[in-house]
Amino acid sequence: MNSSAGHGAGAPSPWVVRFGALLPAGAAVLDLACGRGRHARWLASRGCRVIAADRDADAVASLAGLDGVTGRVVDLESGAPWPWDAAAFDAVVVTNYLYRPAFDQLCALLRPGGVLIYETFMIGNAAFGKPSNPDFLLAPGELLARTADDFTVIAFEQGEVARPAPAMIQRICARKGGAPGRLPDASA
Ligand SMILES: C[S@@+](CC[C@H](N)C(=O)[O-])C[C@H]1O[C@@H](n2cnc3c(N)ncnc32)[C@H](O)[C@@H]1O
Repeated sequence: MNSSAGHGAGAPSPWVVRFGALLPAGAAVLDLACGRGRHARWLASRGCRVIAADRDADAVASLAGLDGVTGRVVDLESGAPWPWDAAAFDAVVVTNYLYRPAFDQLCALLRPGGVLIYETFMIGNAAFGKPSNPDFLLAPGELLARTADDFTVIAFEQGEVARPAPAMIQRICARKGGAPGRLPDASA
């Protein structure tokens, strides 16, 4: 196990841990807007090959030298094409980040059968703090609506959470394509 998992970047989200368990060792994963890479670290500790992308060069640099993690400094909102091929990934993980204009571009990065694991804030979060700008807050059911045509939903939740801090969040795990596929083993 990579001893850096979980260090220096906060604990991974339980949602990512729950559904990251679907990914076999060797899976190609993109941690989009990775920050200091709490999920990249955890996924790499499980044997995934992770590209961790963020515009914050210092955050990406914090991942240097980690087995299984390749950092990439990129502005995802510049309008330039993203530096990855369509269908390049077995999974894309996004947490606490939303840029609606690129949502379809994000989905195109997944191969058929690939897994989208997404968790971020939703409308109502302003009562708890930031983000409060509606541009950064999902509408009710939005992740379901955005994946309705091309994905099979494995799990979806939305509402208020108490941890790691009070917030209104929405989260989905969905598999690209029409086949339901395997669920994570809760006893593992
Ligand atoms: C709240 S942090 C979430 C980090 C990480 N996903 C997590 O949950 O720990 C949001 C991240 O989005 C990144 N970000 C914001 N705008 C971006 C952009 N235009 N391109 C790339 N990354 C961006 C920030 O640098 C920051 O690291």
